[in-house]
Amino acid sequence: MDGNGRWATRRGLPRLAGHKAGAERVRDVVELTPSLGVEYLTLFAFSTENWMRSRGEVNGLMMLFKHYMKSEAATLVRNGVRVRFIGERSRLEPDIQRQMQGLEEQTSNNSKLHLTLALNYGGRDEITRAMKRIAAKVKTGEIMPDDITQDVVSAHLDTAGLPDPDLIIRTSGELRTSGFLPWQSAYAEYVFPETLWPDFVPGEYVDIINSFGTRERRFGAVAG
Ligand code: FPP
Repeated sequence: MDGNGRWATRRGLPRLAGHKAGAERVRDVVELTPSLGVEYLTLFAFSTENWMRSRGEVNGLMMLFKHYMKSEAATLVRNGVRVRFIGERSRLEPDIQRQMQGLEEQTSNNSKLHLTLALNYGGRDEITRAMKRIAAKVKTGEIMPDDITQDVVSAHLDTAGLPDPDLIIRTSGELRTSGFLPWQSAYAEYVFPETLWPDFVPGEYVDIINSFGTRERRFGAVAG
């Protein structure tokens, strides 16, 4: 969800105004996704590098997350959305961690849309933590080194149990993936629309999903 800051700056507004406008697009996209036949949606909300932003911006983003987790909880439950969080939680405020766990529990029986929010997420950080978990099991003899398969690695990532992404959309014209699901996206398709995230209206999202539906994916095999 890139481009919130630029969207605000171009309007002479503080960066946080861009994040607020971005949060409205989150609501649209979450609402629209199940009707497009998409059952899993992952949103990159805060990266392990985002702590390097000004204290005001980081605090403002944390306030926004808290606000939306509270204000949207009932709607998410009602609409059959199951919420999960990926990323390293211990650095987040205890208050936020409690809210995250509460939302996961409240929505745990839902299955219309699986919404994953990446909060304090970094792909290298995730893989490093997974390696530590596997190494600890090797040490106790629960896993033998030869038993470490790709499935075992996947099962120790934050996304354990979730399917790999088919399509990754990064807005704002940046042609980088910035540590988003590096292991899981090995066969994903990418699109990089120029649109800044707060301008990412439902119509553009629908067009991208429809055009993805017509692409042929071979996963390394030849066309059949
Ligand atoms: C990147 O734009 C965006 C973020 C770091 C924050 C994303 C957060 C939201 C959309 C707010 C609400 C989220 C939820 C889940 C309620 P940027 O600031 O890097 O933009 P720039 O590259 O133009 O500076």
